[in-house]
Amino acid sequence: MPKQATPEPSPRKKTARETRATKPRTLAIDIGGSGLKALVLDPQGKALDERQRVKTPRPATPKSVLSALEKLIQPLGGFERVSVGFPGVVEEGVTRTAPNLHPDWAGFDLEGALHKLTRRPVRVLNDAGVQGFGVIEGRGVEMVLTLGTGMGCALYVDGKYVPNLELAHHPLQGKKTYEDYVGQAALERVGKKKWNKHVRKVLDQIQPIWNPRKIYVGGGNARLLDFTLPKNTTVTDNVAGLLGGFALWKNEPVQQ
Ligand code: BGC
Repeated sequence: MPKQATPEPSPRKKTARETRATKPRTLAIDIGGSGLKALVLDPQGKALDERQRVKTPRPATPKSVLSALEKLIQPLGGFERVSVGFPGVVEEGVTRTAPNLHPDWAGFDLEGALHKLTRRPVRVLNDAGVQGFGVIEGRGVEMVLTLGTGMGCALYVDGKYVPNLELAHHPLQGKKTYEDYVGQAALERVGKKKWNKHVRKVLDQIQPIWNPRKIYVGGGNARLLDFTLPKNTTVTDNVAGLLGGFALWKNEPVQQ
């Protein structure tokens, strides 16, 4: 009797997860006044592992921060590109100011230095600017405020970032700047209750000037806010400071 051919099993359809690209992965770095954070993101912008954090070395010179970053990223998995949020003015990868780090950052080619370290393409932007890319909707005028060591501020118009709006160093009352009013030093000086009043004043000040459709408040100290926020204002998770790094590569192709 002729042997009956056993039918070939029809190839199993790949699940969405299996067909998803695995590259390029983005190493997202957030340089802060008190901590350096890093995370690797998959090609869809989702975190691939736990966020790593170390204290910002003091004095926070480019040399000491770069050597701390080298150690921080060592245990992380592979990546094909790097995004960095930096706490100061950044122009074409070069840092111009770093009020809460060190004067040596003026004119430092951070993009070049990190490229040398990782041998991957690097993009650097102001930290609040990166944070916003993790949360904005891309419609109308949107603003980000970050409450940490310093006060970060970022402005977007229909999703386009207006770089380096340094509201932190603008006077708010007398000679006191916004950052003097709501930065970490102010929180420690005046206590949580009064600091909350200061943040409320900052929000009240911002609204009638920029008339933002949305305000996102992030940064490590945003969790201490205890008053009812204006309708257009939401508190965002601090991890946005890393997730936003994905958007810096928005128009780059994904490899299968
Ligand atoms: C800097 C900003 C930065 C913010 C938060 C301020 O002192 O001037 O550029 O975004 O701190 O780190």
